[in-house]
Amino acid sequence: MPDNNGLDDATAPYSGPKAVDPPDVEPRLEDDPDYVTRTKFLSLVALAGGGAMTAAIVVPIVGFAVAPTLEPEVLRWVDVGPLKDFPEGETSGIAVAGPAPESDRRVFVRRKDNKLIPIWNRCTHLGCPVNYSSGSDAFACPCHGGAYSSIGLVTAGPPARPLDRFDYKVVTPGGKDVELANAKDEDRLLIGRPYSIDEDEQPFELKGPGEPVTGVLRNLYPTPGA
Ligand code: FES
Repeated sequence: MPDNNGLDDATAPYSGPKAVDPPDVEPRLEDDPDYVTRTKFLSLVALAGGGAMTAAIVVPIVGFAVAPTLEPEVLRWVDVGPLKDFPEGETSGIAVAGPAPESDRRVFVRRKDNKLIPIWNRCTHLGCPVNYSSGSDAFACPCHGGAYSSIGLVTAGPPARPLDRFDYKVVTPGGKDVELANAKDEDRLLIGRPYSIDEDEQPFELKGPGEPVTGVLRNLYPTPGA
C-alpha cells in the first residue's frame, strides 16, 4: 500500500484518459466567405442585368442631348448669291447649305437702312421654324405663339432669347472683301457662323433652343466649343 494519504503518486506515470486528435471533418461550403449561394448569385445577375438595361437606355439619351451642344460649329462661308437678290428694304428667305445635311438652315436676310441682318428661322423656344410676315414686318412661331420683331427680338410668347443670327460678309466676284455701303449689285453675299444675341443685340456664343444667354439660368447650359 503506498503511503500517500489516498492521493496518487505524482511521480507515477499518467494512466487517465488521453487527448485524441479530432476526427477529420469536411469544411462546409457555406463557411467559405467567398462562397456564393444560389440566391445571392441570382440577385447579382438581376442587379447586373438591371444596370445594363438602365445604361442602355440612359446613355444614348444623355449623349443625344448633350453631344450636339458640345460639338463646335465648323465655320464655313457659304455664297448665297449676288447682293441684288437681297433688295434694300426687304426681308428675303433663303436656304443655306451647312457643312452637313443636318446643319442646312433657312435664313431670312433683312436689308434695310444700309444694314444687313441674316436671321436664323429657328425659334429659340423649342426650335420650330418661324415664319416672316411682310405685312406686319415681324416673325411668328406656329408652335406655341412665340413672336419676334422685324429684327428678331422677342415681343411675345415663351422664347428664351431673340432669334439667332449669322456672320456675313460681302465680296466682289473676284473674292475681295467689300463694305456693304460700297458694294455693287453683282457683289456676293456670304453667310458664316451662327451666333446668339440678347435683347440689346449683344452677341453671344450660339445657344440651343430654350437656352437663355442672360440671367442665372444661362449657367445651366454649356457653350459649344468652350
Ligand atoms: S417652338 Fe416657337 S414658341 Fe415654342
